[in-house]
Amino acid sequence: KPIHILNGPNLNLLGTREPEIYGRETLADIEARCAEAAGGLGLEIVFRQTNHEGELVDWIQAAREEASAVILNPAAYGHTSVALHDALKALEVPVIEVHLSQPAAREPFRHHSYVTAVCDGAISGFGALGYVLGIKAAADLIA
Ligand code: DQA
Repeated sequence: KPIHILNGPNLNLLGTREPEIYGRETLADIEARCAEAAGGLGLEIVFRQTNHEGELVDWIQAAREEASAVILNPAAYGHTSVALHDALKALEVPVIEVHLSQPAAREPFRHHSYVTAVCDGAISGFGALGYVLGIKAAADLIA
């Protein structure tokens, strides 16, 4: 089964959105990096982005049957969503939380995550590299 890489709100704007924080790579660039990294490990990916909380919940539920692991950048919903927390709690495959920036070093409202406690691990602050590191971690957890 593929690794599902799920991206939350506003990440479709990467490349032009606050590049000093999030870098100049677009989400398509990150997807290409992920496909290459996964391919090198003999793994496939499904890569998705949505601005809608309920759609993320649907995708996490679908991952119960369809994914070998999940890499999730919940974006702002990580700081707000009990629904994401609950959906992840019901997921048995490995889940890795990824953030491009380092939320702990930013505004106080970014310091709490509803998803961290229901993820196997979290990678923050390394930009797009975090997704590649997440794939390596997922590969290890699946094996
Ligand atoms: C983010 C960090 C979040 O605080 C923010 O709301 C985002 C992106 C990151 O990847 O650094 O939208 O998840």
